[in-house]
Amino acid sequence: MKMNLSNIKKSKFYLDKNECVGIPTETVYGLAANAYSQSATSKIFRLKKRPKKNPLIVHYYNLKMLKNDCMLNEDFLKLYKKFSPGPITFVLKLKKGSKISKNVTNKKKTLAVRFPKHPISRKLLKLLKYPLAAPSANISTKISAVTSQDVKDEFGKKLKYILDGGASKVGLESTIVGLINKPQILRLGGIEVKRINKILKTNLKYKRKDKTLIVPGQLKIHYSPGIPIRMNVNSPRLNEAFILIKKKKTSGKNIYYLSKTKNLKEAAKNLYKTLRMIKNKKFKSIAVEKIPNVGFGEAINDRLLRAAKF
Ligand code: TXA
Ligand code: MG
Repeated sequence: MKMNLSNIKKSKFYLDKNECVGIPTETVYGLAANAYSQSATSKIFRLKKRPKKNPLIVHYYNLKMLKNDCMLNEDFLKLYKKFSPGPITFVLKLKKGSKISKNVTNKKKTLAVRFPKHPISRKLLKLLKYPLAAPSANISTKISAVTSQDVKDEFGKKLKYILDGGASKVGLESTIVGLINKPQILRLGGIEVKRINKILKTNLKYKRKDKTLIVPGQLKIHYSPGIPIRMNVNSPRLNEAFILIKKKKTSGKNIYYLSKTKNLKEAAKNLYKTLRMIKNKKFKSIAVEKIPNVGFGEAINDRLLRAAKF
């Protein structure tokens, strides 16, 4: 993707005016606004139809900027050094005197922060005097956006500007790690849990039903294509789209491959794109073949289970 400086400057123009802009990241597209502005961040919630109680992730260019808003700790620094910029989000203690808008935190004393790797969003962040609050650029509960066209399809003319950065390379949201007391995996995503465990010398596991996990957005339906999804299916029903992760002899207009070689990273990248393609056809439901519940497979299964609760 070529870097178009005038488009980046145009984004800055709108963001400086406290407007929302669709931005590319390596995970999924974000719906971005000035994280220090009450009026800018309230527009995010309105556009997305997002419940006010669901806090936002704030995107930074570097540690220097982060230090204005958060208390850093050792585990954070270890993970930051290894994985940032990249598809990982950290939940840290909010600093007293931080200018982060109360809309972003839902008045809580913690803040989710991330350093995106996409060169275009990094260039944009570098030009700004404030960090960017940015949830995934989709209407609340719907499928996340992985191209600028997806963002357009979600918000149409209601969104002033979308900065194009090509298709998101990871295709799945960031992994969220809570670093307030003991480290916790709050959401599966672009960095595999085993890699985090290796750095922290821990054996953290993602617990779907753990009530102590305070990730409001993780409890409801999400990523929904609007039709039912059946998991672990061997053969699809009539009028059903069939999602596969390895090459099969059967073919047909209802067959969709996330990968042809059972490559789970590739499958994760193709998940939202495929759900969107299926949604735009006239299928009555979606069947998915069994996906191994390891690494990116666990993240895919987690997203599909939530999407299935339509
Ligand atoms: O890859 C990503 O993380 C993308 C791109 C755009 O950066 N963003 C994203 O944001 O996925 P969103 O809003 O769709 O998901 C953020 C999740 C929500 O489930 C929210 O509840 C949780 O992060 N969250 C935000 N702040 C939190 C906090 N302080 N403590 C715990 N969870 C938090
Ligand atoms: Mg989201």
